[in-house]
Amino acid sequence: MSVTVLVGSQWGDEGKGKIVDILSERYDIVVRYQGGANAGHTVEIGDRKFVLHLIPSGILREKVLCVIGNGVVIDPKALLDEIKQLEELGISIKGRLLISHNAHLIMPYHKLLDAINENSSTKIGTTGRGIGPCYIDKYARRGIKIVDLLDKKVLEEKIRINIEEKNNLLRKVYNQDELDVDEIIKEYLAFDEAIDQYITDVPLFLHNSILEDKSILFEGAQGALLDIDHGTYPYVTSSNPTSGGACTGSGIPPTKISSVFGIVKAYTTRVGFGPFPTEMLDDKGEKLRTIGNEFGATTGRPRRCGWYDAYLVNYSRMINGIQRAAITKLDVLSYFDEIKVCISYELNGKKLKSFPTDVNRLNEVTPVYETLPGWNTDISKMTAYSQLPANAKNYLEFISQQSGFEISMISVGPKRNQTIEL
Ligand code: GDP
Ligand code: IMO
Ligand code: MG
Repeated sequence: MSVTVLVGSQWGDEGKGKIVDILSERYDIVVRYQGGANAGHTVEIGDRKFVLHLIPSGILREKVLCVIGNGVVIDPKALLDEIKQLEELGISIKGRLLISHNAHLIMPYHKLLDAINENSSTKIGTTGRGIGPCYIDKYARRGIKIVDLLDKKVLEEKIRINIEEKNNLLRKVYNQDELDVDEIIKEYLAFDEAIDQYITDVPLFLHNSILEDKSILFEGAQGALLDIDHGTYPYVTSSNPTSGGACTGSGIPPTKISSVFGIVKAYTTRVGFGPFPTEMLDDKGEKLRTIGNEFGATTGRPRRCGWYDAYLVNYSRMINGIQRAAITKLDVLSYFDEIKVCISYELNGKKLKSFPTDVNRLNEVTPVYETLPGWNTDISKMTAYSQLPANAKNYLEFISQQSGFEISMISVGPKRNQTIEL
């Protein structure tokens, strides 16, 4: 039995989609446990490029069953659009997708409130997918769940109660037009027909799958530093991308998890606001963005780019329990004469003893760098570790040692065959 939790180790967009696609050939089930359509997981197969938002990236492997756990917030329209797009590309979804009855629904007012907040002084730089407001309602115990789609009366009543409150808020606090409750009820009643077939008791399904010795891969979205509890709050997402989230977000007990696999980009990126100690605002940052094609898979926004931060990834290893890692996008670093790696932080001239998630301190730290020689060689067609230039091996060894994990996979391009396994 193998139950692996795969997590993003930085601020998201580490290349999780590509690695899940590769690994899922060896797994029976792939599970999303948090986040929603704020995720954008890219998989390139030959000339075809897929960007998955809500559906696990394992869907591209015919034999894999895909599960959306209770921790995910689901925009039904986004889900149905994604199913349609995949079916148009010849991917069959029927019988291969299971959705937890306990997952919460993103409602039109969640997206509206997300947009309103992004126009205020407390903006985060969100993806605008209604994620934060949906989790607010979940924790305020007034959320609407997937299971509510099954009972028209319950659904209608819950929507009415919620919209009455939201309309008050929109009118009195934000001076906005009210929402048309009947129109939204009509829209959501219609989702029932399309989504019913996927609704499952996910904890029971996973429990039985483990009894049948099935292997399960958990596909984290976002990354550890975007975690609501362990990330750079408030510049985070509203869920737990870290490995512990796999348990609460799916109903699998911690005793069933056999390993945690980290996806680690060979440099650092972040989208949205918030501290970023190794950010490069110069031509080198621009070079990383151009070569690495660092533009959001969900929103198209340019990603902020910087050197690899081993101090940050070491923290991420600690809170996730990462044992092995895939280093992605190593090819992007191929044309730098020198490559810097941050190994610690200083604050007021003193070395810090631990990673500060407090944004005020993180904004003030000075990264301490080690400079390594580059390799100036195209590595994107290399398929074995032994082929890599000595300086690339040296870089990998250095970041592995500084971040405290073993590297078991190296990605040198977006395609399936651009992967080196160790
Ligand atoms: P995710 O959110 O972690 O799944 O990552 P994204 O899909 O948002 O962003 C990763 C981007 O890098 C995508 O465009 C991938 O196709 C691409 N990619 C993944 N691995 C590699 C790699 O090793 N090299 C290069 N050059 N691109 C990669
Ligand atoms: P994947 O799974 C990178 C960021 C947003 C913003 C913050 C909050 O593709 O790695 P939200 O819409 O979640 O309320 O936005 O989190 N963010 C991501 N950044 N990759 C992602 O997902 C992200 N999902 C959210 O840019 O800063
Ligand atoms: Mg992404």
